[in-house]
Amino acid sequence: MAWRNGGSNAFLRRTVNLRSGLGRRSPRIVPTTFHDSLSRPLRDLRLSVTDRCNFRCGYCMPKEVFGRGYDFLPKESVLTFEEYARLARVFVSLGVEKIRLTGGEPLLRRNLDRLVALLAEIGGLRDLTLTTNGSRLVEEAPALRTAGLRRLTVSVDSLDDATFRAMNDVDFPVHRVLRGIEAAQAAGFAPIKINMVVKRGVNDHEVEALAERFGGRGFILRFIEYMDVGNTNGWRLEEVVPSAEIVARLGRATPLEPLGPNYPGEVARRFRHPDGGEIGVISSVTQPFCGDCTRARLSADGQLYTCLFASHGHDLRTPLRAGAGDAELAGIIGAVWHARADRYSEIRATTATREPKAEMSLLGG
Ligand code: GTP
Ligand code: 5AD
Ligand code: SF4
Ligand code: SF4
Repeated sequence: MAWRNGGSNAFLRRTVNLRSGLGRRSPRIVPTTFHDSLSRPLRDLRLSVTDRCNFRCGYCMPKEVFGRGYDFLPKESVLTFEEYARLARVFVSLGVEKIRLTGGEPLLRRNLDRLVALLAEIGGLRDLTLTTNGSRLVEEAPALRTAGLRRLTVSVDSLDDATFRAMNDVDFPVHRVLRGIEAAQAAGFAPIKINMVVKRGVNDHEVEALAERFGGRGFILRFIEYMDVGNTNGWRLEEVVPSAEIVARLGRATPLEPLGPNYPGEVARRFRHPDGGEIGVISSVTQPFCGDCTRARLSADGQLYTCLFASHGHDLRTPLRAGAGDAELAGIIGAVWHARADRYSEIRATTATREPKAEMSLLGG
């Protein structure tokens, strides 16, 4: 096997460094950096902790498909917190620096702060964050913060209550999410990231209102192009609002100062808002960023996906539950990453018939 940094023994080299990473007590893992077939390193891991959600956003889990009869993952196939932590350590030994917890809705998973605490202990992990719909933040934000969660992203597709209720399709009022955001601020999360998926004719009239509400200090706002994830959202290109259009519209009302990327491979193009905050656009459809994609995704049933648009994952749960050691798990993950050639967003227009894609609620965005 031709990994850039040699064989599996390299994965297990560790050293004690109590000052680095998020870890306070556990030894820092010295990672091995290696690359996929397009020379992209493995840097980010997105852990989906459940495929369930209490919202039914049409762009992600349309009600007609994700109804009563939908086959969600059975409890026994979902990873335990200890299993996530075990795999996360192996991923960190392979170069992962950032972990994002996702769902479905991750805060539906009871006692998630316990998992946060396990992950926060991993030496060598530089960033630990979570994406939520905000519906349970009032209850959960303090415990998450105490457990060691560093950052938080909350999805807010509209400030207009009727539009918000229609988009989540379960009649959830926007004021409860806004109260959740306040609770997160009170718990010490700053800045808080706000995601808005923009869909033409549905919420695109709300772009300016979101920029006004979240353009100030304490927030980082992201406008996201509506994507053809999964097989169920009935995506049409006409419903995508190109980021360039959003930037032009906002620029008319407010001068926006372009900012460089925070780190290599950042998905957003960023601007300073005159109110002191930061806004950004994520142009996955009109300006794909596959060339820098360093993201691996682990579904709640322990399947490793190498692209948001992949049709299938690679099973890590079976070897994990069969007693595989760290080196063996690292070998499996390494081989998958080494073979990785995904660049779906770049070839979307030219890709003819494909197998069905995995659903966004399984992969967590
Ligand atoms: P930070 O860790 O705070 O920098 O987050 P981020 O800016 O990378 O954004 P986040 O991970 O919250 O992703 C925001 C949205 O961008 C996701 O919900 C997706 O809609 C889209 N996105 C993120 N990663 C990918 C990706 O690998 N491919 C594609 N096509 N879209 C992505
Ligand atoms: N297009 C773009 N982003 C999506 N998300 C979910 N579905 C889509 C889609 N079809 C992302 C949003 C949301 C996060 C949970 O997943 O960013 O905030
Ligand atoms: Fe749930 Fe988030 Fe998907 Fe909406 S986008 S259905 S809140 S997982
Ligand atoms: Fe990465 Fe796939 Fe998204 Fe491209 S489409 S940026 S390869 S996850």
